[in-house]
Amino acid sequence: MTTASIVDNFPALRQSIGDKSLVYLDSAATTQKPQSVIDAVTRYYEHDNANIHRGVHTLSQRATQSYENARKNIASLLGANRPEEVIFVRGATEAINMIAQAWARPRLVEGDEILITEMEHHSNIVPWQIVCEQTGAILKVAPVLDDGSLDIEAYKSLLSEDTVLVSIAHVSNAIGTINPVQELCAFAKEAGATTVVDGAQACGHLQVNFQEIDCDFYAVSGHKMFGPTGIGCLLGKYEVLQEMEPWQGGGDMILSVSFEETTWNDVPFKFEAGTPNIAGAIGLGAAVQFIEGIGYETMVSHEQELLAYGRGVLENIEGVTLVGASEHNAGVLSFTVEGVHPHDVGTILDHAGVAIRTGNHCAEPLMRRFGLSATCRASLSVYNTTEDLDRLGLAVQEAIRILG
Ligand code: ALA
Repeated sequence: MTTASIVDNFPALRQSIGDKSLVYLDSAATTQKPQSVIDAVTRYYEHDNANIHRGVHTLSQRATQSYENARKNIASLLGANRPEEVIFVRGATEAINMIAQAWARPRLVEGDEILITEMEHHSNIVPWQIVCEQTGAILKVAPVLDDGSLDIEAYKSLLSEDTVLVSIAHVSNAIGTINPVQELCAFAKEAGATTVVDGAQACGHLQVNFQEIDCDFYAVSGHKMFGPTGIGCLLGKYEVLQEMEPWQGGGDMILSVSFEETTWNDVPFKFEAGTPNIAGAIGLGAAVQFIEGIGYETMVSHEQELLAYGRGVLENIEGVTLVGASEHNAGVLSFTVEGVHPHDVGTILDHAGVAIRTGNHCAEPLMRRFGLSATCRASLSVYNTTEDLDRLGLAVQEAIRILG
């Protein structure tokens, strides 16, 4: 598939907002869905709709096979050691909450430390605050430098024998910084810490290899990698998952139940209580195939070209300041416009058919770090073009003309 023809796979991109053709620059919030993902979800409901792991009838067997094939596809794309290392969850948020409650809560004691960074999404801050409250553990935060990259020396100095767990974003959703997670996890391991990587913003943009990163847990968001909403995965090292107690109780996560004693099913089923999002998992499996059809190499080079082009477009507009435009960034352009509130910029851009996100991007501490309450964020994906970025530039100039 060439990058020019990729856009043809996305029906939602073939529409107008008022009399302007849509330019979708909000893929960090959620990517658009290719026809193959929409078709996979529809096919499941039209032909195979049944519960999984529970029926001997044909539909249940077909549903189970598609669901488990999706698990295998994800394991292969993201470099898991085996499909059992992939647990289906609602999204990266649920994955991190599961680690906090099922791994961290039973292990942490007063005075233990959890280390995160200043660029985390709220979903990689709040679950740790909750578990610190529950256990008496202490949350430590590694700072971000002016260019939006992590202060690695400060991060290293915050690691100690008290650090029980480290949780870091692979890619910042708000400014796009790509963290050197393999290196950061290696430092954490030297200190004896368990490692978590929040990959919500990475898997739709970068080649992720769970084995090479060598973290204990990796959180995945399906809807940010062309999959449906409400589905994601927690990748966990098999031996670590085996040691963990379940998070939620219910059907399918047990081997046997009596009122006296209940025993757990094997990993990963031990962590998938109740009827899961079967259609979502199947859709995510189709999204994996879509990514494989393009290849990460093509995706990365296309997005990097667009990122450089987009930075050029915005830097040439007087009054626009890029925020956190570090050397190693994924396709995120976070910026402010002098004298115009980001929400007003977003509204004017919407009238021009250009969809961006404005606000704190669920990363309030990072905004505060830059002395801001909000930014405008144009975020890229494989279906965007340089023409989209030219339209962004023109719409920002229009916002300045009207409100600046
Ligand atoms: N976390 C999503 C974003 O960055 C919603 O916009």
